[in-house]
Amino acid sequence: MAVQISPSILSADFARLADEAAAVPNADWLHVDVMDYHFVPNLTLGLPVVESLRKATSLPLDCHLMIEDPDRWAPAYAEAGAGSVTIHAEAAKAPVRTLRQIRSLGARAALALNPGTAVEPYEGLFGEIDMLLLMTVEPGFGGQEFLDMVLPKIRTARSLVERHGGQIWIQVDGGVTTETIERVAEAGADVFVAGSAVYGASDPSAAVDALRAQAETVTG
Ligand code: DX5
Ligand code: ZN
Repeated sequence: MAVQISPSILSADFARLADEAAAVPNADWLHVDVMDYHFVPNLTLGLPVVESLRKATSLPLDCHLMIEDPDRWAPAYAEAGAGSVTIHAEAAKAPVRTLRQIRSLGARAALALNPGTAVEPYEGLFGEIDMLLLMTVEPGFGGQEFLDMVLPKIRTARSLVERHGGQIWIQVDGGVTTETIERVAEAGADVFVAGSAVYGASDPSAAVDALRAQAETVTG
């Protein structure tokens, strides 16, 4: 299980996104939070910004769609060059079709679950996904407090993933900091989104290294 760090540009300066991406060359991904004011009570950015970001950085884009109609919009993010496209289980009406479209367009397909959504009902979709995102805050805003109540679900997800061959990555998003990352790594996560812990730091690149080092102490 290799540790991967995906800094979230939600906590970056939106007027300087190219520079903010360049500030974390040691990251594995750049996490891009797409919010539509409907699925979550916040509004961020959409396709035009992703298309521009694609050209502005060599980091692969990890697009997290917090939008009401992912079936309609997700394929366009794969076409725009996202390396990974995540849709929410709570929003998708045709997840099998949408996840297959994402993959057929060359991106990794991922399914996200809010803190209150159980993982077991989605085991049937494991053949369709490359990553499972377990939210450790209610989606919508950066800088919220990590929800420890999600830890048992991460453990459950890890054992389900192992039963399916262990290829699916488990990503966590929300409140991941140097205070909490060891707990989530120990529970079985391997891809860590961090917004305020990276872009709130005076040296974002050093923050990525510190988070990675801490997670690695647990995962070996
Ligand atoms: C929240 C977003 C997160 C957010 C995390 O809904 O999905 O990606 O940027 O921010 P932190 O790491 O500050 O909790
Ligand atoms: Zn996110």
